[in-house]
Amino acid sequence: MSVKKRIVASNWKMNPLTVKEAIALFSAAKKVAGACANVQTVICPPALYLKTLSNAVSGHRYLVGVQDIFEKQGVGAYTGSISAQMAKNAGAVWAIVGHSERRALGETNEIVHAKVLAALGAGLTAILCIGERERDHDGFYLSFIKEELENCLAGVSQKKLGQIVIAYEPIWAIGAEAAGADTPGSLFEMVIYIRKVLVGIFGSRLGLEIPIIYGGSVDAMNAKELLEKGDVRGFLVGRASLDIKTFSAILRIANS
Ligand code: PGA
Repeated sequence: MSVKKRIVASNWKMNPLTVKEAIALFSAAKKVAGACANVQTVICPPALYLKTLSNAVSGHRYLVGVQDIFEKQGVGAYTGSISAQMAKNAGAVWAIVGHSERRALGETNEIVHAKVLAALGAGLTAILCIGERERDHDGFYLSFIKEELENCLAGVSQKKLGQIVIAYEPIWAIGAEAAGADTPGSLFEMVIYIRKVLVGIFGSRLGLEIPIIYGGSVDAMNAKELLEKGDVRGFLVGRASLDIKTFSAILRIANS
């Protein structure tokens, strides 16, 4: 599936505590998402809620995604793990892979690469998260980003490129403790750089088609500028996706 619309993916992380709350949040989000024809909304709840929530999906404007998958495909003796196919069977259409909170637990580019291939193999659209821990003066962060992209996308076939979305998520901009979102100007430069690397990997015709979204402290106040001046296709939204007012505002901005 090639994605031409704006993309707003929500990452609920380890929230909420009960399925009842998850249903309430999902119901509220789907009302707004269903009215946003120009946005592909993707809601990524904890895997435990996938089945229940995906049963409540109607149409294509909003879909359900999984926050992580195991690097091995199918089934096997991997205690506690969920394969891409299992997530798909539970209703996931998209999968976040390589989120920095997973990488912080020891996930290497090699593992993320296997997860990308597993997601694509199962027919899921992969949101590949990349992002540097800090911006150093020597520009080392640029080679770090390049390495993440090259290693995690190695061997991805041209036929599957329509199932790839890149989420640029600088780690220093993620979460309540963060310094705040990237600025639209610096995001714009990063997006150009990421495009350049993607063109280096896949050539200009295909490399320029891959959507790039931004994540890290996106809220209703900064969404418009980040979209327009940052030149991203959309967002991966953490905290703000748990607040239905804010999330609705972000969706409406992306839709306009
Ligand atoms: P945040 O998280 O929006 O809460 O900063 C973003 C993310 O981790 O994807």
